[in-house]
Amino acid sequence: MKILVTGGAGYIGSHTVIELQQAGHQVVVVDNLYNASEKSIQRVTAITGQAVHFYQVDIRDREGLTRVMEEHQFDCCIHFAGLKAVGESVAKPLEYYDNNIAGTLVLLDVMRNHGCKNIIFSSSATVYGNPAVIPITEECPKGQCTNPYGQTKSMIEQIMMDMQKADPEWNVVLLRYFNPIGAHPSGTMGEDPNGIPNNLMPYITQVAIGKRPELGVFGDDYDTPDGTGVRDYIHVVDLAVGHVKALAAVEKGCGLAIYNLGTGKGYSVLDVAHAFEEASGVKIPYSIKPRRAGDIATCYSDPAKAERELGWKAQYGILEMCRDSWNWQKNNPNGYRD
Ligand code: NAD
Ligand code: UFG
Repeated sequence: MKILVTGGAGYIGSHTVIELQQAGHQVVVVDNLYNASEKSIQRVTAITGQAVHFYQVDIRDREGLTRVMEEHQFDCCIHFAGLKAVGESVAKPLEYYDNNIAGTLVLLDVMRNHGCKNIIFSSSATVYGNPAVIPITEECPKGQCTNPYGQTKSMIEQIMMDMQKADPEWNVVLLRYFNPIGAHPSGTMGEDPNGIPNNLMPYITQVAIGKRPELGVFGDDYDTPDGTGVRDYIHVVDLAVGHVKALAAVEKGCGLAIYNLGTGKGYSVLDVAHAFEEASGVKIPYSIKPRRAGDIATCYSDPAKAERELGWKAQYGILEMCRDSWNWQKNNPNGYRD
């Protein structure tokens, strides 16, 4: 199939481009490079041996997107482009609503005008809010999102559901990711956050490489086995493969489909720090800090639906996730900026 990948220069998008190319799909990437480097695309090519057709275009730029759609006849779009920093979204709600929601509306309209009505969307476990059931199934009701970023994911899901209901020619797959970590096993591609990392794994790898003195553990008084927050960490390559599997559902004419992409296993902050020490041989000093606003105690998936319907199941375990995150950080201390 010919696939438009928005946000394909970013962390999850670039890993997905590899899996798409290796599965025989043709890929065109649109990214405004706001949170990415074109180097990630070059490294994709180094791994797959295939060129990636890349356009530096903002998805809010209707004319730019139209030009891309006129040059290519796409079978499906995988839509990663978006802003994703929870804290920043609280400080800059208008920027987040504009980029994520207005951008998606332009994308969907241009797709429709060019006869492409198949889309796979990067949603998030954040739409469950403080989940009503654990492990979280897709039937779990959506919850109250505590920040504008989460609201954009929930609203975009709703927009796509309404659109599909009004025009059943659309096939829409909403993929709710749990916590993506890890990096390509080659050690040449991975997550490259700007400034101080917000998320656990990039913070740990920066402590390991000596950029930060210690890990701050946000709360040890949650109702969890060791008091620290429990999450469902998933290797980015497994996540990428999930998108390739979702394409098969689109091809079969799935209508609207929603899948959790997680491993189904929950690890605490201290479990992850200890797994990282085991995988890397590097000690991670830490101290307990106050809880972070908006955090929940426990969040992990029931991924059975994706296995049943897509034939997808995560293959990598926590030690491999830590090994590959460390391999990437160690080989590229400054990410793509070297
Ligand atoms: P990322 O920031 O690495 O990738 C997003 C990409 O989109 C970047 O390359 C950025 O430059 C691009 N982009 C942003 N706004 C754009 C615009 N207006 N036009 C064109 N390109 C634009 O983030 P990621 O971790 O790879 O996340 C990809 C998607 O998955 C995002 O939608 C994110 O919200 C979602 N998601 C991520 C996580 C996570 O923990 N990483 C969890 C759940 C969902
Ligand atoms: N944590 C720390 N110290 C840190 C960073 C995180 O203790 O320096 C803790 C958090 O309190 C939480 C756990 O580590 O208990 C994971 O935190 P992350 O920030 O890595 O991930 P979140 O579960 O908070 O959120 C992430 C993304 C969201 C996404 C969600 C579900 O940031 O955008 O996963 O996919 F919605």
